[in-house]
Amino acid sequence: MSGGAARHGIMARTETYLDWNATAPLRPEAAAAMSAALARCGNPSSVHRWGRAARQAVEHARSAVAALLDAPPEGVVFVSGGTEANHLALLGAGRDRVLVSAVEHDSVLRAVPEAERIPVDREGIVVPEALDRLLAADPRPALVSVMLANNETGVVQPVAEIAAIAHANGALFHCDAVQAAGKIALDASAIGADLVTLSAHKLGGPPGVGALVVTGELELTPLLRGGGQERRRRAGTENLVGIAGFAAAAIAAGEEIAVYDRVRALRNALEADVAEAASEAVVLGAAAPRLPNTSAIAMPGVTAETQVIALDLDGVMVSAGAACSSGKVVPSHVLEAMGVGPDLAGSTIRVSLGSTSSEADIAHFLRAWTALYRRCRDFSVGARAA
Ligand SMILES: Cc1ncc(COP(=O)(O)O)c(C=O)c1O
Repeated sequence: MSGGAARHGIMARTETYLDWNATAPLRPEAAAAMSAALARCGNPSSVHRWGRAARQAVEHARSAVAALLDAPPEGVVFVSGGTEANHLALLGAGRDRVLVSAVEHDSVLRAVPEAERIPVDREGIVVPEALDRLLAADPRPALVSVMLANNETGVVQPVAEIAAIAHANGALFHCDAVQAAGKIALDASAIGADLVTLSAHKLGGPPGVGALVVTGELELTPLLRGGGQERRRRAGTENLVGIAGFAAAAIAAGEEIAVYDRVRALRNALEADVAEAASEAVVLGAAAPRLPNTSAIAMPGVTAETQVIALDLDGVMVSAGAACSSGKVVPSHVLEAMGVGPDLAGSTIRVSLGSTSSEADIAHFLRAWTALYRRCRDFSVGARAA
């Protein structure tokens, strides 16, 4: 309870944040690095000593971000976030054909609206034979884009296999690793991608900064032209403060990957308790390999919007499984692609944990979720009886 609230006799509400896939809290290391960067002046393109110091800070950050993937630092192109990185990959690689999985983030799907869609199975996993067939059917130079882990379900794709199929057909492979970074160990050569997307705010850095990592010799056509920054791959004075925060967050995230073993145990306990409380509840993508922190839970008969609002009133913050970026809930293309019907999809929420999530957070969620479930069940039993 805060001092002021206590004096006024108001009980402080417990707030539980279980929406880490939307954005993660800023890490203290990132805040400290950003505040140090804010205190400095210098354009990395300037030749004088302050400019050179700024350049050194950017190159240090480049190495730190590359290390998260074990990729070459010179391949890291700093951009304004995951959305821009995905656009740069899809539009800048200069391929005639683009193929994307049906469960990609909108920043991939909308970058090239005419891209061919690679279907997924009922668990949300890309069907490798379908990709092979699509690529073999058209000899034009292609780029394949498949995410490492899905933002709504946490389902992890067999990206090494997908990369091998793409390369065997002469295609480039881009992997959006925005959700996976910091939650599972990453290795650029194991992923097998030519291009990898990262975003700082999903791993405890600030929003508005990210990277496209080029793992080989690939030439990119810049989306933004002007100065020669980022080896002519992205013009504009570097966002020094954001880049410093990104690097500090990447180092901290890389060092504490093992914490996600504990997060996985918490997530599994949450799902087991949900199943015990409500036998109709469904966890989507549960049979597939998944991120350790994500759970897409359907409470049939209760819309996701109702759940998100009711849980928020109880101090628990989660997201609707459906995209809700404009305040308007639209059916989730991810769940649709998995063959989930509109009723189940419309009643699915995304619960996403993070490195500081605790047993108390899970208990709070379960209290609020179970109370809502019972209210809705009693209401529908009452309505049927009336
Ligand atoms: C899988 C995935 N890719 C890309 C993005 C976009 O990243 P940013 O918010 O940095 O533009 C997101 C953000 O939600 C995401 O989940």
